[in-house]
Amino acid sequence: MSVPNQLLRLVLGHKGHLFFGVVFMVFYALFTVAPAKYMKDIVDALGSGKVPEQSRFILVGFGIVLLFFFKGITFFGQNYLMNSMGQKIIMELREKLFRQILMLPVEFHNKQSTGDLISRFTTDLTSLAEAVKTAISGPLRDLPQILILLGIMGYRSWQLFLLTLLLLPVAGWLIQTFGQQNQLVTTKRQSKYGDLTNLLNETITGIRIVQAFGMEGYEARRFKAENHRLFRYFLHSVKIGSYSFPILELIGGICGASVLTFGGYLIIHGQITGGDFASFIVAFFMMNEPIKKFNGFTLKIQEGMASANRIYEILQTENPIRDRSGSVLLEPLQKEIRIKVERFDYGGKAVLKDIDLVLPKGSITALVGASGSGKTTLANLLPRFFDVPDGMGVITIDGVDIRSATLNSLRGQIALVTQEIVLFNDTVRNNISYGKIDCDQAALEHAAKVAYAYDFITKFENGFDQEIGEKGQLLSGGQRQRLSISRALIKDAPILILDEATSALDTESEKEVQAAIENLMKNRTSLVIAHRLSTVQHADIIHVLKEGRIIESGSHRELLEQKGEYYRLYQLQFRDDPIED
Ligand SMILES: Nc1ncnc2c1ncn2[C@@H]1O[C@H](COP(=O)(O)OP(=O)(O)OP(=O)(O)O)[C@@H](O)[C@H]1O
Ligand SMILES: [Mg+2]
Repeated sequence: MSVPNQLLRLVLGHKGHLFFGVVFMVFYALFTVAPAKYMKDIVDALGSGKVPEQSRFILVGFGIVLLFFFKGITFFGQNYLMNSMGQKIIMELREKLFRQILMLPVEFHNKQSTGDLISRFTTDLTSLAEAVKTAISGPLRDLPQILILLGIMGYRSWQLFLLTLLLLPVAGWLIQTFGQQNQLVTTKRQSKYGDLTNLLNETITGIRIVQAFGMEGYEARRFKAENHRLFRYFLHSVKIGSYSFPILELIGGICGASVLTFGGYLIIHGQITGGDFASFIVAFFMMNEPIKKFNGFTLKIQEGMASANRIYEILQTENPIRDRSGSVLLEPLQKEIRIKVERFDYGGKAVLKDIDLVLPKGSITALVGASGSGKTTLANLLPRFFDVPDGMGVITIDGVDIRSATLNSLRGQIALVTQEIVLFNDTVRNNISYGKIDCDQAALEHAAKVAYAYDFITKFENGFDQEIGEKGQLLSGGQRQRLSISRALIKDAPILILDEATSALDTESEKEVQAAIENLMKNRTSLVIAHRLSTVQHADIIHVLKEGRIIESGSHRELLEQKGEYYRLYQLQFRDDPIED
């Protein structure tokens, strides 16, 4: 469905608001144009030579007050209803967008810049809200007003009306041109806004590196350049908005002068009365207002459409990693996981080749290998962060292809500890219970104890309710790791994927983290990317990855005896590690 159709469907979802809003708009238009119509009677009465009675003036005055009163009420009604509808639509879209972002796969997020996504939420939604409101009030409030005024004008003097009709298309053409110019600028401007947001996001989250490397000046210059670029786009919009207004007004003035001159001629030659002329002129100048609004209307609509396109670009992004039709619920693991990958790549050269692994239930499988050999990539296939393309391999759990299982039933069985620890700006409690929000205090404490996190948590001033800062920055590296292990523990899933963090810890926390990891692996089927000797030693089988291939497999002792790649890695990596037992 095209973007305008999608938007129309959203609007039609609010029929009540729409209906009453339109009713108020029609009345508002009528009350607004009424003075133009009655001007004739007033002027003709005054010009008839007879002295009118005082009471008639009072009556007219009373009429005016009443008119403005009703005009006010109908303005409130239409403005409130239309704006609240606009905001409701935006609220719905915002939620849709957020849900879509939650669902879109890792691949999408790897490519999409955060700043750009955020600006689609902020600036794009705001300008769309404006456009939705204007799109409705333009044709429903301003257009009828223009039509009624034109009607009054034609009724009062067809000669003057014809003259006006000749002049109107010029204004129409100008309005159209300004609108198109603005849409172009807006599209570019919104994407620049995304760039700026991105820069901001990166600098703020990387502030420690920025400061440590003395790059404040560099970042400031980068920001200044982006900021200026954005400024120039805004300036362009401002320019269009600013010159389109006086140009239109000037055109209006020229038209007014022509009408005035021609009108004088008609009165002198007795073709129309002074009242006709006054009524016509009032209607003519009253048209200025809705026409100018119509100009603003097209500008805003074009801006809004540019934004709507950016929003729907995300909403309509295909999600290749989703439940396929006929997806089955995956039963809890009974026997084994099998990972068979002929080839996997990220769009370039192969990252994984000829992988064929079996992970029996309850076993610990370790992956080791040089940096960049494909360990994390391999582990990411199991929870379907990426799918192996059809025909390039298959991953099964008890014989069921995971691509044919529902994502929930698959991921529900997997606890994950990632290489880069992800924590949220929330309390210790909410970070641990992240996969099981409703767990009780006992379960929470148990998980914390098993992960060797209980002691440091209880030393916090607020214990489990301690806020840990953005990305857990108020914690030490080892504490962060143990929290992420607690989180995996509380999920209590049968399958564990553990991508050990490579960051070195001091011997004391290293020991605690190791002990936590051992507890975490108990009674689970584990796929562990091992950087620690103790983890490797506990493994039932170790696979050595090199450039995407498994080149050696066996137990720690067997592999050492082979004196191959593992032996070499061991010499480099593990030799200095403290060995238990
Ligand atoms: N999202 C991605 N898009 C494109 N290429 C990627 C992506 N992720 C990883 N790669 C590439 O794939 C290869 C394997 O990366 P991977 O993260 O699996 O290595 P790793 O074995 O986990 O390394 P490390 O021990 O350093 O964590 C690398 O060459 C990397 O550059
Ligand atoms: Mg890795």
